[in-house]
Amino acid sequence: MRKLLLAAALCALAFSPAAVAADPIVIKFSHVVAPDTPKGKASEKFKELAEKYTNGKVKVEVYHNSILYKDKEEIEALQLGAVQMLAPSLAKFGPLGAKEFEVFDLPYILPSKAALRAVTDGPLGKRLFVKLESKGITGLAYWDNGFKVMSANRPLRMPADFQGLKMRIQSSKVLEAQMRALGAIPQSLAFSEVYQALQTGVVDGTENTPSNEYTQKMHEVQKYTTNSGHGYIGYAVITNKKFWDGLPADIRGQLEKAMKDATVYANEIAQKENDDAMEAMRKSGRTEIIELTAEQKLAWRKALEPVYQEMAARLGQETIDEFQKETKAVTN
Ligand code: LMR
Repeated sequence: MRKLLLAAALCALAFSPAAVAADPIVIKFSHVVAPDTPKGKASEKFKELAEKYTNGKVKVEVYHNSILYKDKEEIEALQLGAVQMLAPSLAKFGPLGAKEFEVFDLPYILPSKAALRAVTDGPLGKRLFVKLESKGITGLAYWDNGFKVMSANRPLRMPADFQGLKMRIQSSKVLEAQMRALGAIPQSLAFSEVYQALQTGVVDGTENTPSNEYTQKMHEVQKYTTNSGHGYIGYAVITNKKFWDGLPADIRGQLEKAMKDATVYANEIAQKENDDAMEAMRKSGRTEIIELTAEQKLAWRKALEPVYQEMAARLGQETIDEFQKETKAVTN
């Protein structure tokens, strides 16, 4: 009887509010890329800082390489509260109904990284985050990756070289229009499926940042990589709104600081990560890196120009105009 009473007392203690409060708050941060990428490293930096600034009251578990969820599933998981943080690429918000994010996918829309900051830190960046609130999502930060390359088993120098190629894209209608404008056949696939699809010939080619191509070994199954810089990949770090709003105010403040510092880090390392990956691909000898001539660059730009008009109804002409106005203010 005594033993039973003791057990009951211990049990009551374990479930008392004091004991529960001592348990760390767990943030599951899920993403689809490798640990040694801009996003992979930045998510680890956030973990380090979040745990430090909250004195261990928060524990961040980072899940790389789609271990937990693939592209489409992870957003659903966030909305359901199965994970608390994600950083999907800006090209993946269309299926959620926030299609304006796809403005970042327009070919050549970003003249420079400085111009990128003007958009993400400016009114448009904020307005896009407001769009997420009604979906139960809070936008926390924009993280950089970089400008894209195009790869295939055939050299891609002129738009005509794309004719009939099946090209993997992210789930963005702008990217779909971009590939069509080049004469290719777009195929939307989850990131985790790309390497195998390239290896087995389910698709012929793809576009991505050098860092993503290299860390997924795509360059080993693509004979040619064109350093085109025709488009951009970046991320929105997002959280479940209910979870975020429900955090004690002091903890939320410490996490906001951790996110701010991790964002500075992310945006500092992104360019070098991509430059190093490009160099590593070049050195590997597995893929031939093609640099475009001025004339070829012009031909790509010309072929891709119609995408703007085609996508104006989807993105809203005012979104495109605002983007261009904010970037121009930096460039001029
Ligand atoms: C892709 O699916 O190609 C990329 O968006 C993956 C990523 O998160 O960088």
